[in-house]
Amino acid sequence: MNNKFKKSLIAYYSFSGNTAIMAEKIKEIVDGDLFEIKHLKKPSLLSLYINAGKKKFFNVKAKIDLDPLPDISAYDSIFIGAPVYAWTIPDILASFLSSNDFKGKKTISFATYGGGAGKFFDDFKKTIKNASVIDGIAIKNVKASDFAQKINLWLESIDV
Ligand SMILES: Cc1cc2nc3c(=O)[nH]c(=O)nc-3n(C[C@H](O)[C@H](O)[C@H](O)COP(=O)(O)O)c2cc1C
Repeated sequence: MNNKFKKSLIAYYSFSGNTAIMAEKIKEIVDGDLFEIKHLKKPSLLSLYINAGKKKFFNVKAKIDLDPLPDISAYDSIFIGAPVYAWTIPDILASFLSSNDFKGKKTISFATYGGGAGKFFDDFKKTIKNASVIDGIAIKNVKASDFAQKINLWLESIDV
C-alpha cells in the first residue's frame, strides 16, 4: 500500500497477547512505531474479571495509573487498540483515552474479542478527547489463516 497513513503510532493494550499480535501486524503494514499501554504493576487475571464485572453491573470504573504517552505531535495517524472487556473498553484504555489529549489527531480504533464486541467502538468514541475517530475492526481469532488478509483489507478500506 502507498502509505496514506503517513507517520503512524500504534498504541495498544494487551494482557494475553492477542491485541499485541494485531498491533504488530498493523505496524508491519503501515511501518509505524509501537507503544504498549501497560499497567505500572501487572494485575492478576482474576482482578481484571472482577473489575470488568463491577463495571458491567455497577458502573464502577477503575482509574489506572499509566506510563505517559510519547510525544504524539510528530504522528499523523494514531491507531489505538485493546481487548473487549465486559462488552466495552477495558478500564486501562478508558484511563489512557481520557488522560491524554489527542487534539486534532486522526485516530483509528481496533480491538480483539472472544464473543462479542458490544459497545467497544461507541464507548471508545465517547471517551477519547478532542480527536476524530475512524472505527476499526474487532478480530476474534488472530491465529486464523485469514487474519493477515483481514487486516490488509481493513487498512486498504480506510479513507484517511
Ligand atoms: C476480564 C475480561 C473480560 C472479557 N470480556 C469480554 C467481552 O465482554 N466480550 C468478548 O467478546 N470478549 C471478552 N473477553 C475476551 C477478550 O476480549 C479476548 O480474549 C481478547 O482477545 C484478549 O486480548 P489480549 O490477549 O490482547 O489481552 C474478556 C477477557 C477478559 C480477561
